[in-house]
Amino acid sequence: MHYYDKEPAFKEMRVKRIRTTIRGIPLTFVVGPGVFSNEYVDAGTRLLAENMVIMDYWDILDMGCGYGVLGIVAAKLAPNGRVVMVDINRLAVKLASVNVKLNNVSNAEVRWGDLYDAVVNEKFNTIITNPPITAGLEVNRKLILGAKEHLKPGGLLQIVIPKKLRSRFEEMLMNNYDVVERLAKSGGYIVYAAKVMK
Ligand SMILES: C[S@@+](CC[C@H](N)C(=O)[O-])C[C@H]1O[C@@H](n2cnc3c(N)ncnc32)[C@H](O)[C@@H]1O
Repeated sequence: MHYYDKEPAFKEMRVKRIRTTIRGIPLTFVVGPGVFSNEYVDAGTRLLAENMVIMDYWDILDMGCGYGVLGIVAAKLAPNGRVVMVDINRLAVKLASVNVKLNNVSNAEVRWGDLYDAVVNEKFNTIITNPPITAGLEVNRKLILGAKEHLKPGGLLQIVIPKKLRSRFEEMLMNNYDVVERLAKSGGYIVYAAKVMK
């Protein structure tokens, strides 16, 4: 089973808790089988969470939210902002909803959906994502190109990529965004911010 399966079996799910601190914020995540990185917060996710640019009052989309790390950190950093978290994996959506409450976040909502289907006609100041690399290049291309349609003018796609896939993803970002900047690089991952001027 891959973590991006739409409905992993979870009848007898054994949930666990991950306790961690990101950007000085103590956080707890309930995790279960069949979701991405359910033993610890993924190193790429952590690098993006520690380095992403989030301003208060922003509208933020966490695309492929998993059990909710990025969206929850973003919601804490933008208490007057609004966060929408989307995943195609129904268990991830359930866990992210639980984790939003568990971490006392009141400015985030979790939706089930295939990429941008759940946010038709909505635009954001930033889209944050640790993309589903194992889902294949086509899904990732749709994620990166689709982000442009859901960013406000001056909006940022903030994305973490494994270093070994750098050339392919950098090319996709450079060819489709007006400004591409590296925000961080560590432990085999690179975080990019790609801006649309429009
Ligand atoms: C690399 S994981 C990142 C999860 C989470 N953001 C984190 O950092 O821990 C990618 C996520 O994208 C989700 N995903 C895969 N294909 C998707 C799609 N077409 N639409 C929405 N989410 C998708 C997967 O279910 C998975 O939770």
